Amino acid sequence: MYRSHTCGELRIEHVGNTVTLAGWVQRTREMGGMTFVDLRDRYGITQLAFNTEDNDDLNQAARKLGREFVVQINGEVIERSSKNKNIPTGEVEIKVNELKVLNAAKTPPFTIEEETDGGDELRMKHRYLDIRRTVIQEKLRLRNKVALETRKYLDGEDFMDVETPYLIKSTPEGARDFVVPSRMNQGEFYALPQSPQTFKQLLMVSGIDRYYQIVKCFRDEDLRADRQPEFTQVDCEMSFVEQEDVLNTFEGLVKHLFKACRGIEFEGDFPRMTFAEAMETYGSDKPDIRFGMKFNNLNEVAKNKGFKIFDEAELVVGIVAEDCAVYSRKQLDKLTKWVQRPQVGAKGLVYVKYNEDGSFKSSVDKFYSQEDLKEWADHLGAKPGDLLLVLSGEADKTRKQMNELRLHMGNELGLRNPNEFKPLWVVDFPLLEWDDETERYHAMHHPFTSPKQEDIELLDTDPGRVRANAYDLAMNGVELGGGSIRIHDRDLQALMFKHLGFSDEEAQKQFGFLMNAFEFGAPPHGGIAFGLDRLVATMGGSDSIRDYIAFPKNNAGRDIMIDAPATIDQEQLKELGLDLDLQEEN
Ligand code: AMO
Repeated sequence: MYRSHTCGELRIEHVGNTVTLAGWVQRTREMGGMTFVDLRDRYGITQLAFNTEDNDDLNQAARKLGREFVVQINGEVIERSSKNKNIPTGEVEIKVNELKVLNAAKTPPFTIEEETDGGDELRMKHRYLDIRRTVIQEKLRLRNKVALETRKYLDGEDFMDVETPYLIKSTPEGARDFVVPSRMNQGEFYALPQSPQTFKQLLMVSGIDRYYQIVKCFRDEDLRADRQPEFTQVDCEMSFVEQEDVLNTFEGLVKHLFKACRGIEFEGDFPRMTFAEAMETYGSDKPDIRFGMKFNNLNEVAKNKGFKIFDEAELVVGIVAEDCAVYSRKQLDKLTKWVQRPQVGAKGLVYVKYNEDGSFKSSVDKFYSQEDLKEWADHLGAKPGDLLLVLSGEADKTRKQMNELRLHMGNELGLRNPNEFKPLWVVDFPLLEWDDETERYHAMHHPFTSPKQEDIELLDTDPGRVRANAYDLAMNGVELGGGSIRIHDRDLQALMFKHLGFSDEEAQKQFGFLMNAFEFGAPPHGGIAFGLDRLVATMGGSDSIRDYIAFPKNNAGRDIMIDAPATIDQEQLKELGLDLDLQEEN
């Protein structure tokens, strides 16, 4: 028996027991003739005590223990004279009788503590050591709990877990595919699924009725804090449902998860907002509604006063930063530079200070009188002491820039509390999205999303205005999940492909299997997929999903611990029928 108890288990009532523990040496402290060792495992830390007077050899051996040695001890639980109220085992220590080093350890490259001195790169290279840290273990524990409670909830709602293949054909989620060459079918490639979308729809045709899967998805896209090339979805599909049924079921899931995993209860129904309203008032399809600072259109009051930049702009839009009229010139210059960074891309920033005495000071005083600026302030609902921030230009772009500025101000002013959770259903997404580059429409969600019945006739006349039965769940500025009611009619699906610029042959070649299935009795169906990594990170109060993934990739898509991706040898290439030199010449 390696251990009788864990390092987090012993309490005052165990005093007098003889126990065996095993774990890692967190640290050793020498105090006169005594040596104290903190022994750590996943469950906690227990203090070990050695004393020269009792056993000098043992005490000397304890003093030789290095950080992260793996040891086993046997001893008696005794009450501590100086208790540590900060840890659950802090009232006791072990008077050690036997000490066995199970495995020595090199000095770790960074400290294995709550606050480590290790940089990101170093931690990722030795991620197995990083995961020894309690902070990371807590994140993985939360992830485990969320996955477990997801299964419990969905099982209780009659959802059936069905696995779908990883070696498939391209899926249309809009990103690039990761491809896998086939040895047995040379010159042909599998694609890894960007999601199980088509399979879950086929399972509805099969009569599975309610499907779910906690499943890896793969997308070869540019990475950000909330994007990984392989990530996990809680993927779901239901038959004989309308949008309302899906939203209710999954609002239930999210409520269950917050209650079970964080002890947080949401009051009432999650608010809803149309895509159009979200873009208009927040410039984002995933607004962070933990704070206000809504956009207001200033076209009416700011144009035609001789300020050319505003006069020529499609949109002049403003927000109010409460109590920020005290911003210094330096702070405002910094803010202007911030919006001018290429990541945001604004040409400039107009500010108006609404001073406490009711006067105004702005960067456009030359063009606007005090009365004009008062009109702006009234329009924006500002009060003395507030700061007005105004951007202008082409409407969509300007809204996006203002979204960035709003979030930035929210961060600056501490309005984005990571322990506050504000869910929001965003509904009525457009069906199609115009792409300037390819000069054609793309499916905003994916090509299987159904248009709203009343908008179908617009498909021929004004496709950009067709709304879809599609929805996202946003929380704290993060898109946690998205889904739609699907097309289940072959002819409508064929029409959709036509609008997306597929010829009949192309559509048949790529998605024939699905359209053919629709000819054999497809039930009306719809579903949703949550990003598990994002869900857990948001619940944990973090923007970055990386720490919530045991072995994540870095921003260049590399696993620096195992050093992947890597080259493969010539023999393996040959077997696969691949010739890299040729490809490079192309
Ligand atoms: P969608 O593409 O919106 O929908 O993806 C669903 C959710 O998955 C998460 N997500 C990601 N998380 C981390 N890294 C990524 N690269 C990444 N990409 C997406 C997001 C997102 O909301 N088949 C449809 C769902 C459906 O229609 O039912 C789909 O995949 O949280």
